[in-house]
Amino acid sequence: MKVTIVGAGNVGATCADAIAYRRIASEIVLLDIREGFAEGKALDIMQTQTTLGYNTKVSGSTNDYSKTAGSDVVVITSGIPRKPGMTREELIGINAGIVKTVAENLLQHSPNAIVVVVSNPMDTMTYLTLKATGLPKNRIIGMGGALDSSRFKCYLSQALDKPANDIQGMVIGGHGDTTMIPLTRLASYNGVPVSEFLSSEELEKVAADTMVGGATLTGLLGTSAWYAPGASVAYLVDSILHDQKKMIPCSVFLEGEYGQNDICIGVPCIIGKNGVEKIVDIKLNEDEKAKFAKSADAVRAMNADLKSIL
Ligand code: NAI
Ligand code: 2OP
Repeated sequence: MKVTIVGAGNVGATCADAIAYRRIASEIVLLDIREGFAEGKALDIMQTQTTLGYNTKVSGSTNDYSKTAGSDVVVITSGIPRKPGMTREELIGINAGIVKTVAENLLQHSPNAIVVVVSNPMDTMTYLTLKATGLPKNRIIGMGGALDSSRFKCYLSQALDKPANDIQGMVIGGHGDTTMIPLTRLASYNGVPVSEFLSSEELEKVAADTMVGGATLTGLLGTSAWYAPGASVAYLVDSILHDQKKMIPCSVFLEGEYGQNDICIGVPCIIGKNGVEKIVDIKLNEDEKAKFAKSADAVRAMNADLKSIL
């Protein structure tokens, strides 16, 4: 089982480390355009093998896609963060160029791979990848909901003062501060609705903290987060490679589900060896439906910035 991760930066390298340490794949290739960078990260990870006790082969490559050949899953984390003074359109233009070229190069050498898109703005980059490659929709998965849900469960566990692994919950919608929708109504503490333990004000605070979860970390770190994003990608890759059929909120192409068409946005999906095995069309209440429609409008507006590329 071979995984290629393009972009050996914070998220890409952390994801490689998590996949290796948890023995999710037998081979990992890290690729980056920065000369020697992916090789360095791969070697560093390989040197944890004897102390952490695993045998996954991790190698690095400076833009040589032949090394990625035959990958079962490819992960795209390459891109740049938004810089001061840069417009959203400029950021989308630069990252779209990178993501499109990277996806095409990857598929030349791994024509059957499942593609996981991480680069931001993730829902738009996922849509671009789908349109630019023409791959069937089950093979393109945007990672954002897994991360947002892990933040949601973390904040819920803190508010409840209970172990995070006893909390169930999901975040759907766009992967953005104003577009994501933490489903507080459906969250539970071992099957008991969290509303049994938390007031509506407390639940609203958990939802608000979740929505700015990424921005909070960027404020603290000076750049966006990597441990939870890297772990969330590894969790997704695990469900694909080991056909676990976990239900994970992912950004996928909708054709009528949740009342939407021609958009990639976060919804609960069954993730297995074929990528998106099924979209789970859960029944939302009127408030959640309105929020989802608003989120889709915002993602669609961002997709419009791809017009010069598509
Ligand atoms: P980073 O700057 O640490 O790493 C990005 C890497 O991509 C760099 O090493 C760079 O050299 C490489 N790169 C740039 N262009 C390339 C190309 N054409 N080919 C190969 N490599 C190339 O950034 P970080 O923190 O790892 O974030 C990566 C992306 O993931 C960003 O767009 C970020 O916004 C996004 N992100 C998305 C999350 C999600 O939940 N979807 C969560 C966290 C980050
Ligand atoms: C995050 O949510 C910025 O997408 C990145 O941490």
